[in-house]
Amino acid sequence: MWDLHLENGYDIRVLGQDHREAVARLSESCRDYFLLHFGRPPIPSDIDGIYEDLPPGKGYEDKFLLGVFAEEGRLAGLVELIRDYKEAGSWALGMMLLGPAERGRGLGRAIHSTLAKKTRTLGADRLRIVVAHDNLKGQAFWKAMGYEKTEHKCMMIGGKNHEVDIMRLPLTVESE
Ligand SMILES: CC(C)(COP(=O)(O)OP(=O)(O)OC[C@H]1O[C@@H](n2cnc3c(N)ncnc32)[C@H](O)[C@@H]1OP(=O)(O)O)[C@@H](O)C(=O)NCCC(=O)NCCS
Repeated sequence: MWDLHLENGYDIRVLGQDHREAVARLSESCRDYFLLHFGRPPIPSDIDGIYEDLPPGKGYEDKFLLGVFAEEGRLAGLVELIRDYKEAGSWALGMMLLGPAERGRGLGRAIHSTLAKKTRTLGADRLRIVVAHDNLKGQAFWKAMGYEKTEHKCMMIGGKNHEVDIMRLPLTVESE
């Protein structure tokens, strides 16, 4: 189901347990993300969380943890998708994380476009993301992808209180 090839040569595939060390290395390279959201660098239990955390009411059959691989096989980033959260047809992008050297070159847009297309073929009619207010670059990215804020709330992320926006994108041919 998840073996997607991007035009820039990157591939999206399921992240297995055999990628744990690569996920730990990627997380370490993304200290900025962990400092911003958790107030500290990544720790081993964060890697468990990436593999095991589920939103309320969902099971592993609805969680898809995907790796973004460069042509030579290096793990360049990861994306978590949750099917039908919180309503049928609404898929959540739980986490999208690219290594610092991969950012700002159009890879995020290419991944998003491919996943929008793929999730639509799997029954999604909209995508949902939660973005922290202080993640200004993340906010800019989701807005550029066409997401609109539909809710604002306070939420604990990694033991730190955040103001977050819930943003949604209706899936159409244009959003691909
Ligand atoms: C957010 C993230 C996935 C975006 O991927 P990316 O490859 O850097 O984004 P792209 O280069 O494809 O940018 C796409 C658009 O987003 C916007 N954008 C991306 N990064 C931006 C930044 N730092 N500042 C302003 N706008 C930005 C631009 O408008 C860009 O438009 P363009 O295509 O016309 O140039 C990536 O930067 C990342 O992993 N960041 C750290 C983790 C994170 O914050 N994830 C989101 C959590 S909610």
